[in-house]
Amino acid sequence: MRSTPFTFDISLPGGVPTVYDGTDVLIRIVRPLSAMRGQYADQEAYEALLAQGDTILYEVYEMRRPQVADEYIEIADGYIEIADEYIEVADAHVGLGELLHGTSIVHPGKVGDEYFMTKGHFHSVLDTAEVYYVLQGRGMMVMETPEEEWAVKELRPGRVLYVPPRWAHRSVNTGQGDLVFLFVYPAHAGHDYGTIETRGFRKLVVARDGQPHIVDNPRWCAQE
Ligand code: PA5
Ligand code: NI
Repeated sequence: MRSTPFTFDISLPGGVPTVYDGTDVLIRIVRPLSAMRGQYADQEAYEALLAQGDTILYEVYEMRRPQVADEYIEIADGYIEIADEYIEVADAHVGLGELLHGTSIVHPGKVGDEYFMTKGHFHSVLDTAEVYYVLQGRGMMVMETPEEEWAVKELRPGRVLYVPPRWAHRSVNTGQGDLVFLFVYPAHAGHDYGTIETRGFRKLVVARDGQPHIVDNPRWCAQE
């Protein structure tokens, strides 16, 4: 297969990558509040906010190498914007040897006292790692393993975070503006969202006196 090095830019502030080859290689995944049902501790606050509108919590721009983009039969799990419609698609295990990469933009806000955050996931292929490079904003990465270890790392511009294999990861925006980061991970990793949807993360990040605090998740369930 023909293989050509390529470049693109990420506009800052903002975090949107420049489109270099049309929509097959730059995919926009949008997660509205309605995609996070059951994920926030304060369910009353969640329902109240949702009643005001299905606000977008975060967006992901994910790149495929132009030469292989059309070989991706299915694209990332989530809501994909195609012609102004959000379409839910299945996860994919494709592109062995490729690296998926792009930017995530987590908007600021709170549900109750819990900050806007990503769904979070284990990789379906558990032994795959991921690298994050923070471009803008303030946040925390909440992580844990099936062995019940946990870690929370602060995210700030210029910081690189290496998420080792086996660690589930969720980014939390603790700042006033967008949290923007670059991510890179093996294309065959896939996303296991179900485990986190069922049991949650051990730790939550909540605002106390205007500052982020790490607290135990009262609803966390141990994996069987
Ligand atoms: O690959 C990653 O871990 C990130 O690109 C995330 O997918 C992104 O931040 C969105 O989070 P999630 O996939 O948990 O909805
Ligand atoms: Ni990941």
